[in-house]
Amino acid sequence: METKYILDENDLPRQWYNIQADLPVPLSPSYNPQTKEPIGPDDLAPIFASEIIRQEVSTERYIDIPSEVRDILTLWRPSPLYRARRLEKLLKTPAKIFYKYEGVSPPGSHKPNTAVAQAYYNMKDGIERIATETGAGQWGSSLAFATKLFDMECKVYMVRGSYDQKPYRKMMMQCWGADCIASPSPDTNAGRAMLEKDPDTSGSLGMAISEAVEDAASHANTNYSLGSVLNHVCLHQSVIGLEAMEQLKMAGEETPDVVIGCAGGGSNYAGLAFPFIREKMAGRMPDCRFIATEPSACPTLTKGLYAYDFGDMSGYTPIMQMYTLGHGFVPPAIHAGGLRYHGMAPLVSLLHHEGLIDSISYHQNEVFAAAVAFCRSEGIIVAPESAHAIKTVMDVAAECTRTGEEKTIVFNCSGHGHFDLSSYEAYFAGALPDYEYPAELIAASLKNLPKIH
Ligand SMILES: Cc1ncc(COP(=O)(O)O)c(C=O)c1O
Repeated sequence: METKYILDENDLPRQWYNIQADLPVPLSPSYNPQTKEPIGPDDLAPIFASEIIRQEVSTERYIDIPSEVRDILTLWRPSPLYRARRLEKLLKTPAKIFYKYEGVSPPGSHKPNTAVAQAYYNMKDGIERIATETGAGQWGSSLAFATKLFDMECKVYMVRGSYDQKPYRKMMMQCWGADCIASPSPDTNAGRAMLEKDPDTSGSLGMAISEAVEDAASHANTNYSLGSVLNHVCLHQSVIGLEAMEQLKMAGEETPDVVIGCAGGGSNYAGLAFPFIREKMAGRMPDCRFIATEPSACPTLTKGLYAYDFGDMSGYTPIMQMYTLGHGFVPPAIHAGGLRYHGMAPLVSLLHHEGLIDSISYHQNEVFAAAVAFCRSEGIIVAPESAHAIKTVMDVAAECTRTGEEKTIVFNCSGHGHFDLSSYEAYFAGALPDYEYPAELIAASLKNLPKIH
């Protein structure tokens, strides 16, 4: 009756898995936001490290993890895989539920898996400072942590809504020596323009990305770093799924039936799911189902368009083919700040479009009800983002209770919610609004997609 499956430090993967080697159809090119020409390495060089640019377009199946990066990852990796026996009992389900717990990292989520790698490659290129955005604060604190370990500076533009909801995330970034400011901020042209338009805006990831990109482009010693969406981020997160596969073998459950995770920009889900999707595409797990979970207030995969769009609000980033709600869409101020993003990783989008990944969306009260059931059975108080995955797990397990099927479910518990307690407080007080799907706002925003041809 084992509860957790633990790998040795030496079992930390030595290579990342790159799903670009195995895609059913190739990724479409991305385009320069100004010239509208296909983007090349020279377009990205002003704000990204050279190795990161190489990884972004690489189709090598496996890419070595530098030993300096592995050394730091061993501070918390390999992360545990749990069997959620107490949740199973609560649900009276015949399903077997496993979860990979990424909340054991120092900042509390999966985000440092890529933050450490990105900080390392930038340090190698002689970069002294990194600018970034953060939604929930998990990414900003992860990059603050990672840059400090390589003795670099870090500036974080934190979405205003989260900045106000989560003062202690800001304090964590300060502990690791980073400078954190609410976005939109008066520090950039993009921020000043947004503040002029709407001084009371709660901000959005799309706005904060514009500010961080501008900061990096206008400081010679500074590069930009993104905590999700891009191919190299999904690559770095593959350690999650590669470890989980080994751990499921230890549990005698090599071939799960359902693989679940929440999706904001898509990286934690990609990290867990891509190594399993490799197996499915190779015919070794033909019946496995993949489900990405989103908020109903920002249902990018579930209700978005598969189209070309900017990754940010001001149109500074490359134009990528992805599911999008339109770069101008400002999602309602739900508490899962990390899921308030108009776009989705092009890799996750492509696999969704090809029918390999399904998606589903929920309102925040039902998501918090799932989170509370989880902490009262498994003990862990999860991040509101991760709680979306738990809601799907509970629904799939309940279905197994009805049908009697003994499915094996694995999900990514992407982070703890120790700095999200104000959202739990609002839930317990009955003060969490369930936002209707903002159909009109999204329709308006989808009218402004960039034209590339
Ligand atoms: C705990 C947690 N899970 C999930 C996400 C969503 O991001 P992604 O879809 O890139 O994993 C975030 C983003 O901030 C997060 O903090």
